[in-house]
Amino acid sequence: MSTTPRAGNGKITVPDLVARKSRPVETPAPKIICLTAYDYPTARLLDDAGVEVLLVGDSVGMVVLGYENTLPVTMDEMLHHTRAVRRGTRRALVVADMPYGSFHGSVADAVANAVRFVKEAGAEAVKIEGGERRLELIARLVEAEIPVMAHIGLTPQSLNALGGFRVQGKTAEAAGQLVRDARAVEAAGAFSVVLESIPRELAARITRELRIPTIGIGAGPDCDGQVLVLHDLLGLNLGHRAKFVRQYADVAGIISGAVARYCADVRSGAFPSDAESYHTPAEARGELTIPLEQ
Ligand code: KIV
Repeated sequence: MSTTPRAGNGKITVPDLVARKSRPVETPAPKIICLTAYDYPTARLLDDAGVEVLLVGDSVGMVVLGYENTLPVTMDEMLHHTRAVRRGTRRALVVADMPYGSFHGSVADAVANAVRFVKEAGAEAVKIEGGERRLELIARLVEAEIPVMAHIGLTPQSLNALGGFRVQGKTAEAAGQLVRDARAVEAAGAFSVVLESIPRELAARITRELRIPTIGIGAGPDCDGQVLVLHDLLGLNLGHRAKFVRQYADVAGIISGAVARYCADVRSGAFPSDAESYHTPAEARGELTIPLEQ
């Protein structure tokens, strides 16, 4: 039996997730289960499997679209994938990741882009990378009735500024800044915060202090929830694999093996078989004996 708190119709909502944090210590809340999703079939499978938050991450750019990093991902691409995930989801909360450039200009433009995710793609929340410097934006989005999942630590859209994908918060000064970032996004009204690639001790400390749930990726086991990039978990990411990833399947191997067998069967004539072919009904077979017109 699931111990996950759900709204009456089983739908996972933002208040459900926040409420978990206020449970008494004697009955700790179940961890929030989050995965990325980018298309209709995987959204359906993940939703049916009990994943509670489907994050349409801009990681789609790297694991699906073949970009080197997340920076080229556009609003149109994110809307397209968010719509597909929405169509495949019944219970999970669908969160759309705001891509690089969509919230870096004016707050008004950023709010307009976030509204597009809700109105045109059915997202129920948006995710925004950045801590203290996103205060005004987070507050404006919340005012516009758009729940915000913040994202601090290693923020992949800061790739050029950070000089690479590195573990964050390893010095006392950097850890202090991350604690301030976490407090700031909570104060601005974010309903949860992703902690990416930070030491587990720091993630535990932030998790203890905040009233909103923390969702870790490369942040150790003490966060209120966990998220992974689906393609990492499935063994379908053809790029770099980070230390924190646990690969639960070898889907790349399954696809390669199946396609190799298909190629061999087509070459040898073993595919398609008679059973995999349509047949002309007996009464129409005479037509097949009429010679073709010259
Ligand atoms: O884009 C993404 O998939 C993400 C998660 C890794 C948190 O931001």
